[in-house]
Amino acid sequence: MAVVISGKELATIRRNKMKEEVIEFGKKYPRLPHLVVILVGDDPGSVSYVTGKGKACVEIGIKNTTIKKPVTITEDELLNLIDELNNDDTVDGILVQLPLPKHINSDLVIKKIDPKKDVDGFHPINVASLYLKQDGIVSCTPKGIIEVLDYANIQIEGRHAVVIGRSNIVGMPVSKLLLDRNATVTICHSKTANLAEITKTADILIAAVGKAKFVKADMVRDGATVIDVGVNRDLETNKLCGDVDFKDVEPKAAYITKVPGGIGPMTITCLMENTLECYLKHMEEK
Ligand code: GUN
Repeated sequence: MAVVISGKELATIRRNKMKEEVIEFGKKYPRLPHLVVILVGDDPGSVSYVTGKGKACVEIGIKNTTIKKPVTITEDELLNLIDELNNDDTVDGILVQLPLPKHINSDLVIKKIDPKKDVDGFHPINVASLYLKQDGIVSCTPKGIIEVLDYANIQIEGRHAVVIGRSNIVGMPVSKLLLDRNATVTICHSKTANLAEITKTADILIAAVGKAKFVKADMVRDGATVIDVGVNRDLETNKLCGDVDFKDVEPKAAYITKVPGGIGPMTITCLMENTLECYLKHMEEK
C-alpha cells in the first residue's frame, strides 16, 4: 500500500497562506495583485482550466480579468492585445491559455509577453533563466511537482529520477529542477528503447506522457515514488485519469499521487504564487 500524496491538501495550505499575505499586501501597496488570462475560442478543456484559475484568484484575493476572444482573432490582434497589457501598469501577470488555434503562432505570442509578467514561465528569457540558474519565473507544473515531493519529505538528492516525457511545459523543466536538487535524471520519450527497463530503475518516476493509464506495475520498482502529471479522459468511463494506471501501480509504490487531486491543484497554486511574485517585484520597482 502506497502513501497517497495529496496535492489538493498542499494546495489548500498554500492558498490559505497566500490569502493572508494578500491581505497584508493590500495594506502595504496601493492596489491588489492582478492576473489577466486570455482565452481564445471555446475548447471545453481550456474553458475549464481558465475557470479554475479564475476561482483560485477569487479565493486568494487576486484580481482576475479573463479576456475571451473568438477563435477568429488574428495573430496581429492577439499580439496587439498583449502589447496593451504589457504596457498596462495595473496588470502584474499575463497568461494566454494554450493551445491556440492553428493560424496563430504560439511561439510568437509567448515571446510577446513581457517576461516580468509571464506567470507561466514560458517566455524564452524565463526558460533560459531556469537552465542558467538565474532569477526568473519557473513554470507552474514543474514547480508544483517539486513542492509535492518536498511536502511528502521525499529525498531527491542522490536518487534516480526518471521523467517520461520531454515537453517544454513539464518534462524538460522538471528534469532541470530535479537535477538542480542533485538527483540523477534520466529523460525518456516516445523513441526510448526498453522503456520499462529504465523506468524500473527509478526511485522517483515522473509520468508526463499524456497517455491514459500508460504506466503499469511492471514498469515500476518496488518502493518507488510515482508522480502522475497526466490529465486524460478514460475512454471507457469518460472520467478524468492520469498517465499512471493507479490501481495497478499503487500496491507497488511507496508514494504516489492521484488524478484528480494530485499535481493539478498544485499547478494552479503555483500560478498564483508566480502572480504574487510578479506583483511584488512590480510593486518594489516603483
Ligand atoms: N494549457 C495547458 N496547460 C497550460 C498551462 O500551464 N499554461 C497555459 N497557458 N496553457 C496551458
